[in-house]
Amino acid sequence: MPELQTVLDEIAASMASMTERGHVAHYIPQLAKVDPNQFGIAVLTNDGQLYGAGDADAPFSIQSVSKVFTLTMALGQVGDSLWKRVGREPSGNAFNSIVQLEHEHGIPRNPLINAGAIVVTDVVLAGHKPREAIGQILRFMRSLADDEGIYIDNAVARSEEETGFGNRALANYMKAFGNLHHPVEMTTGVYFHQCAIAMNCRQLATAGSFLATQGRHPLTGIKVVSSERARRINALMLTCGHYDGSGEFAFRVGIPGKSGVGGGILAIVPGKASIAVWSPGLNKVGNSLLGSLALERLAKAMDWSIF
Ligand code: DON
Repeated sequence: MPELQTVLDEIAASMASMTERGHVAHYIPQLAKVDPNQFGIAVLTNDGQLYGAGDADAPFSIQSVSKVFTLTMALGQVGDSLWKRVGREPSGNAFNSIVQLEHEHGIPRNPLINAGAIVVTDVVLAGHKPREAIGQILRFMRSLADDEGIYIDNAVARSEEETGFGNRALANYMKAFGNLHHPVEMTTGVYFHQCAIAMNCRQLATAGSFLATQGRHPLTGIKVVSSERARRINALMLTCGHYDGSGEFAFRVGIPGKSGVGGGILAIVPGKASIAVWSPGLNKVGNSLLGSLALERLAKAMDWSIF
């Protein structure tokens, strides 16, 4: 097996010279300002070694990658009863699509599309004021990353608050079916803030590492979730984590992954490692173009595909 640090250095070097880098997200104005000429990657192996290359220390907006962590929290709060309000099937539609909700009684296809993640946030919010729920999500991320430096980028949160009419539409529509328990502004407000969490690749790989280790965090030793729950979250990431690009990602990379429109991807090699990669330019379906390519090369070089 090649040396992991060498592989990461080679990938970072080849990504730096790529001219086709995709397009940064424009529908959230603050994200449109991010320099697309950046690439970072970090890997935390299950024996606790942290590797990084490129811009592995540069913070970025984790956006939809946050959905994995709020899902973990919601399952911890309400267990399998969550599945009465959210499905577990790939949508085959864009991450922000509303079309299936009409025929499917306001029950989103899965917790990783926007509609599903808004329901998940509604669950996390239960019994709290929005400010407390945001604090709880941030504390969860800090404890998983073993790093108090993680913060919410308020300019990004505000930017999304000013433009998030599609997400409010999803929330309103689900509320019409009785599948949102809090006022739309409250739930979407928390959701916008969780998406605006800023982290670097090292922090994100560390935060997601419990999913590679059957639920026990490799650095802190804390049992975050049961091994069964870790397996199930990985299954959802594999089938739904890249929206209508999930099949393509499974085909090319072959491991569970969750993307965000900030250009980050958290990818899990069960039993082996947790990976975070970031490059702001996106492909047509809103997933990091170079991030996906880098993961494809890494999985191939290390023989990490689960198939
Ligand atoms: O709600 C939104 O549209 C964004 N805050 C998050 C979407 C996202 O990251 C989709 N990912 N590829």
